[in-house]
Amino acid sequence: MKKSTYRASTDVALIKYWGKRDEKLRLPENNSISMILDGLETVTTVEFRNDLAQDRVRIAGEARAVEAQRVTRQLDRIREIAGVAWYAQVESVNSFPKGTGLSSSGSGFAALTCAAADALDLNLTERELSILARQASGTACRCVCGGFVEWHAGDSSGTSYAETIFPADHWAIHDVVAVVDEGMKRVSSTEGHQTAQSSPFYTTRQAHIGDKIATMKRAIAARDFTSFGELVEAEALEFHTILLTSQPPLIAWYPGTVEVMLAVQQMRQDNIEAYFTINTGFNVHVLTLPHYVAAVAERLQKLSLVQKTLQASIGGKPQKTDAHLF
Ligand code: DP6
Repeated sequence: MKKSTYRASTDVALIKYWGKRDEKLRLPENNSISMILDGLETVTTVEFRNDLAQDRVRIAGEARAVEAQRVTRQLDRIREIAGVAWYAQVESVNSFPKGTGLSSSGSGFAALTCAAADALDLNLTERELSILARQASGTACRCVCGGFVEWHAGDSSGTSYAETIFPADHWAIHDVVAVVDEGMKRVSSTEGHQTAQSSPFYTTRQAHIGDKIATMKRAIAARDFTSFGELVEAEALEFHTILLTSQPPLIAWYPGTVEVMLAVQQMRQDNIEAYFTINTGFNVHVLTLPHYVAAVAERLQKLSLVQKTLQASIGGKPQKTDAHLF
């Protein structure tokens, strides 16, 4: 049967998805905006076979039951659309550490969804792929698109999808990722979403999130890096205020995370314009313009708690490749 391999980039959320109005369908409480990251990617090969008694899933060379179950649930959705019962062999590798706050489930489930749909010749539109990917991981619905992306929260499965709002060549933003630890985070985003509404500040966040989305779009349209960066950083701190004040509190930061945040503020004092954002992990995205990348990377690499840096630029949608993993 046909084998298909896709390479998908992850993204970094500029205005974050936090809290679900429908857990099962993964309908978010609010719209979110992200930027696709060329350089942080997952490659996944899928082959449906009639000689397997169950799905055979290996991620980064390992067959871990919890991850495999989530992959099987997504394959089930795709098998249902195609009307087939074949099990699949799936191999997946990441170019960056998974489970550390760098949204590996976004690129992972985008690559899986595209490869599995293609292996079954489903011919889905980008919107259909986004709706399908969303059900496996919210972030993944944005990662089937390219450039700057908005996920429309919607109020049903068919209206909750992402689309490109500005293409990748609109603005050359770079991301220097400070890796302070490569071990897995203690609390997954999926678990964290469940307690979002318990923060007393969640309703305040939701009351002004529409304004934030509109302001972010204006900053990107105008390529106004200072407005963009100040909003990205303020949003990251607001998001972590929600985490810190949820029940139970979610403290995602490690000492190295705080060291990077302070260093980024110092960079701006020294006229190196850069801004940080952090998801539910401890590794830090530092967004900057092309001419500051070298200086930002050098400053970050000198910090005592930074193990290494990774670099990404704004990227496009998932690409099909013949470089199969098996
Ligand atoms: C903080 O997409 O990982 O990174 O839908 O349960 O898979 P699930 O959650 P996930 O949540 C991401 C949360 C975030 C913000 C964002 O990427 O918008």
